[in-house]
Amino acid sequence: MPGCSGVRSVQSDRMSAPEVIRVTGGTPLHGQVAVLGAKNAALKHMVATMLAPGNHVLENVPAIADVAIMREVLAYAGATCIRDGTSLLITVPEEPHPEAPLELVRKMRASILVLGALLARCGEARVALPGGDDFGSRPIDMHLEGLRDMGAVFELNHGVLEGRAPDGLHGTDIYLEFPSVGATENLLLAAAMATGTTTISNAAREPEMSDLAHFLNKMGAKIEGAGTSTISVHGVGSLDAATHRVVPDRLEAGTYALAGAISSGVVRVVDCVPDHLRMELRKMAAAGCEVTTGEDWIEVSGPDRPQPVDFATLPYPGFHTDMHPQMVAFLSIADGTSIATENVYAARFRYVGELNRMGANIHTDGQHVVVRGTNRLSGCEVDGCDIRAAAALVLAGLVADGTTSVVHADHIDRGYAGFVEKMRALGAGITRL
Ligand code: UD1
Repeated sequence: MPGCSGVRSVQSDRMSAPEVIRVTGGTPLHGQVAVLGAKNAALKHMVATMLAPGNHVLENVPAIADVAIMREVLAYAGATCIRDGTSLLITVPEEPHPEAPLELVRKMRASILVLGALLARCGEARVALPGGDDFGSRPIDMHLEGLRDMGAVFELNHGVLEGRAPDGLHGTDIYLEFPSVGATENLLLAAAMATGTTTISNAAREPEMSDLAHFLNKMGAKIEGAGTSTISVHGVGSLDAATHRVVPDRLEAGTYALAGAISSGVVRVVDCVPDHLRMELRKMAAAGCEVTTGEDWIEVSGPDRPQPVDFATLPYPGFHTDMHPQMVAFLSIADGTSIATENVYAARFRYVGELNRMGANIHTDGQHVVVRGTNRLSGCEVDGCDIRAAAALVLAGLVADGTTSVVHADHIDRGYAGFVEKMRALGAGITRL
């Protein structure tokens, strides 16, 4: 396996991963918690390094399981990756190996992002096709359509997508059917070194995507309009290695803010960008939280009992789908009925049955989640079936009577560095078994 011997680490990204997090409810959280760089940015920046040989430095990278998997992906392609505190030092070879195998893509869908980068860098890429997951089938049709428009051809052989760009990639006008984050990023990576100008219309506007464009520009790319719906990429012949600090994780920040809110406590989240959580904070305020913000901090003080609030998930700057389960957990104890509408994923509802096991009164109707608030949750064993579901169940456990055991809680390690330690520092009765 090429490159794998190149993986060295002064500190492992992979947490020991016990299966259960146990929470004893009843203590309001108080105190301050700092967040690190965004998972959904760091993973893409790691892929972006493949575009230029040499030594890159990514700062503010959380030690989470998904970063560890992406390190394996890069190692397979021939890069070496060394962690030094919260920095990753990535050395990319002159001739990367253009392949991401099934065992890695299966572990983490974001591995598909190497498609655009490897096609651009090597003129070819072999990436195993990701299957479905808990959120539904999650196709990559928009990624492929855009890359085809830029001159790539694909063949699916034995579950492996084989891409080639026989005449190189060239700039073109691409109109995305939906502002997909992954498709926008894959196309950005491919377009950075294509011939001519690529215009992506109806592009994703997520802060993590804009941060990727920022990093690519530091590497010498010429990208304009990131953060708006129309992005122009003027292809350049080559890129250089660069250093970049990853944008703070708004999902980690929002989860701790809601942990304070659901427990009727007061939590200050620091090292974050309050503006990136505008819609989520607005809904927390509408539910009765006192929300104060500074340049890089948020303070949320929870009400005795939340007021019901409706919300709908949408691409940024709408309410983030990855904050949906945590917000529903909060509203499950509201004094009335709330309706959450899921517009991004067809099947993000597995956590609902788990909250109901704790005494919540929630049902789904198509893409709507009807949350009838109850004044009591009761601790039991629940299944933390994905990152945000597991986080939501821990939040519910903070206010439940007795003890809640979240099994498969290792999902939390995919997106939150030091979760149990940070929650405990805020006063939560939480342990990892
Ligand atoms: C990223 C995030 C994920 C977040 C999501 C939406 C990472 C690693 N993951 O996922 O945490 O929930 O953005 O903010 O950054 N779709 C298609 N065809 C495509 C591409 C997407 O139909 O070619 C659909 C998906 O199935 C989904 C929707 O579009 O229903 C949004 O997906 P997308 O924005 O691409 O999310 P990801 O980039 O996969």
